[in-house]
Amino acid sequence: MAFSSTLLITGGAGFIGSHLVRRFVNKYPQYRIVNLDLLTYAGNLENLHDVEQAPNYTFVKGDINDEALLDELFETYRFDGVIHLAAESHVDRSISNPMSFIQTNVFGTVRLLNAARKHWTDKSGKRFYHISTDEVYGSLGETGLFSETTPYDPRSPYSASKAASDHFVRAYFHTYDLPVVLSNCSNNYGPYQFPEKLIPLMIHNIFQQKPLPVYGDGKYTRDWLWVEDHADAIDTVFHKGTIGETYNIGGNNEWKNIDLVHALCDIMDELLERPADASRQLIHFVKDRPGHDRRYAIDAEKIKSELGWTPTVGAKDGLRRTAEWYLAHSGWLERVTSGAYLNYYTQQYHNR
Ligand code: NAD
Ligand code: DAU
Repeated sequence: MAFSSTLLITGGAGFIGSHLVRRFVNKYPQYRIVNLDLLTYAGNLENLHDVEQAPNYTFVKGDINDEALLDELFETYRFDGVIHLAAESHVDRSISNPMSFIQTNVFGTVRLLNAARKHWTDKSGKRFYHISTDEVYGSLGETGLFSETTPYDPRSPYSASKAASDHFVRAYFHTYDLPVVLSNCSNNYGPYQFPEKLIPLMIHNIFQQKPLPVYGDGKYTRDWLWVEDHADAIDTVFHKGTIGETYNIGGNNEWKNIDLVHALCDIMDELLERPADASRQLIHFVKDRPGHDRRYAIDAEKIKSELGWTPTVGAKDGLRRTAEWYLAHSGWLERVTSGAYLNYYTQQYHNR
């Protein structure tokens, strides 16, 4: 079959990447989608089981740091676009092992930029889309929002590595005229999120009646976005965004962590038919995350007014759907939390 475009999606076996790959494979049968993913602890082909046989989908296991592989893929597939999500994504892991974040998020991104620069001798119609985070902007006080012009002020090794990668992407636009576009998004939640992140970790622990570790005073605030709304925003920016521009993406959905954990406890008690307040008894306030950013909140006006994107899933609905999905996929949860992850998980963070 002749395809109208061939796109490289990196990190497509991870949480957000798998939603994006599924969306593109199903919505755009005229596109050929090549998913390059190293399948680290966070990548799982089970996340894409429903599209793996699709005629417009190809999976390649490999590292974005493998220059020879990137050359081979660019030569074989002659990509029209790249959507780059592959990354080390968990802040706590970046605190215990910053080097792997530099390796993947900084070196890996630059190697991918180099490959695009080398192979896209004709840049017309090409687009390199870098997926980033609101954490590059640092921490907010009680009021205010991050906009696209907020100065960068990363505080964790994770956010520093993402900030560095964003700077390289923009540098390649200015220096080499590489056609790039970027977006910086708030906290995502929904199905297939690895249970080291707050929401799936809490759901997992509530289900197993284990302690619920809330860092510090629990009053840290995040702006939560339903993952499929993020995939929709990425689709929008990829197709309609202006080259060289950055778009902030957020859910307009701020929660203090403790309020979010309370809401999850109540939803889970109802779904599991446990007595009211049963899960709240599991909450434990634990030692804080070093350098913990107090509050993130996004001003998403630019993507709304210029590209017409808005989030569609409200918080209560999204949290309930997430809890129901994890309860219906306990096998997935067991498989991804077996083996090495459990050792890491128990040793590093939750024994303190
Ligand atoms: P994730 O950890 O669930 O998935 C990352 C994927 O990248 C995994 O499939 C992993 O196997 C793959 N990967 C890691 N190193 C690789 C390498 N060297 N080569 C190839 N593949 C590699 O991450 P996520 O939460 O889906 O985040 C995806 C992207 O979105 C990241 O760039 C992240 O910084 C960004 N982001 C995430 C959020 C969020 O809330 N999760 C919010 C904003 C931005
Ligand atoms: O803002 C976007 C970012 O959101 C993404 O770039 C990151 O990839 C993603 O991991 C996420 O980072 P956070 O650090 O905000 O997410 P996390 O789920 O790790 O933590 C959310 C909040 O909950 C944060 O304030 C720390 C707190 N927390 C987290 C865990 C895992 C707890 O209180 N207890 C926990 O056990």
